[in-house]
Amino acid sequence: MDEIIIKGGRPLTGEVIVGGAKNAALPILTASILAKGKFTFHNAPRLKDVDSIMDLLSTMGAVVERDGQTVHIDTSGMNDYEAPYEHVRKMRASILVLGPLLARMKKAKVSLPGGCAIGARPIDLHLNGMALLGADITLEHGYVEAACKQLKGAEIYFDIPTVTGTENLMMAATLAKGTSVLRNAAREPEIIALADVLNQMGADISGAGTSVITIKGVKKLKPVTTTIIADRIEAGTLMVAAALTRGDVKIKNCDPFHLKAVIHKLEKTGAEVQVFKKSVRVKGAAHINSIDLKTMPYPGFPTDMQAQFMVLMSVANGFSVIAETIFENRFIHVSELSRMGADITISGNHAMIKGVPELSGAPVMATDLRASASLILAGLAAKGTTTVSRVYHLDRGYEFLEKKLALLGAAIKRVPAKTKP
Ligand code: EPZ
Repeated sequence: MDEIIIKGGRPLTGEVIVGGAKNAALPILTASILAKGKFTFHNAPRLKDVDSIMDLLSTMGAVVERDGQTVHIDTSGMNDYEAPYEHVRKMRASILVLGPLLARMKKAKVSLPGGCAIGARPIDLHLNGMALLGADITLEHGYVEAACKQLKGAEIYFDIPTVTGTENLMMAATLAKGTSVLRNAAREPEIIALADVLNQMGADISGAGTSVITIKGVKKLKPVTTTIIADRIEAGTLMVAAALTRGDVKIKNCDPFHLKAVIHKLEKTGAEVQVFKKSVRVKGAAHINSIDLKTMPYPGFPTDMQAQFMVLMSVANGFSVIAETIFENRFIHVSELSRMGADITISGNHAMIKGVPELSGAPVMATDLRASASLILAGLAAKGTTTVSRVYHLDRGYEFLEKKLALLGAAIKRVPAKTKP
């Protein structure tokens, strides 16, 4: 297990390029199950989670190859409909194969994903939707077993907007007989990206990006060549790094439209944000204003940016309150930040942050993907040296983050963890 060592206190300056979006790549690569033939996906980020979905598809009979940032998938030989426990436990978004398998193979056997560090992460909304489309669902021995003669269009109302739930059911409905309507659907940019790819494949989807998505079932879909959109959370993480280190960084190959809530909040902290067509430039302010934050479904402030903003608030002037409304346990990073001198009190799903003049470097442990990014950010701002262990969490969702930060002037390096004596 590698560690990342950071010597803090250096302002980040220069230009950095954002990679492909993990949370777009996962459903889009999974959508290849829906059609036989050769797919090409450009700008597919080299991430552990993307590797996991590639491995899963190959165990199901697809031929999957990576050529740099491009992934080729040939589904002609796909013959299996099972997503085994050893795959799903590593990457819970593997549940995204459920809808495509039901639609194309009329059956699926997918290990229940179970929870993760940030919450229970149930999939009841996914399963209720599949049942409404006509699937028979049984839960046995830790697996979802689903089967149908032919999925049929249905009206599906989500109690809460679920990102992968919306994606799973949108994919399932593409080959259903008749029309489906998803109400209270999630509106994230990754859902629009998936709908665009599905429509390129011959699907008939309208309304993606709004809370009502209509899918008119078609008989068949075809393979495509497409490009994955930029990762708005990586872009947001780099923006916070620039503000936190009082630097001046241009973040390229991102879509500022997807970052409106993050830009709005970052400007309120006093950072200067210049918006261009496909990039943003962030200049940090000497004094960081404390602000309050509440995570919400898109277009609200993203929960995946909560930990990163908490670091910024931990060295802001005054008091901030962060409300985490999406996941029930997404403050795990607080205990590690406190060991670096942050002054944070948790009460339920609220964190009260009293800004301190400076964090101090320390050995800390990553616990989940965005928490690991927040510890790296804290190390950039802290006085002294920070060693972040268990960085495999980081590798799930950030492509060479330490290299990108080093190119911006950070004193940061990845080393193999010292084997304990
Ligand atoms: C997606 O997770 C993202 N993952 C998460 O990113 C992101 O934090 C989350 O959406 C919220 O934006 C991918 O896209 C692969 P949800 P997802 O279903 O779809 C509850 C990261 O760091 N819920 O939108 O699993 C759920 O418990 C990851 O990149 C149900 O109750 O999240 C949560 O409270 C972390 N029943 C809320 O809905 C269900 O059937 C939103 O979850 C499904 C969800």
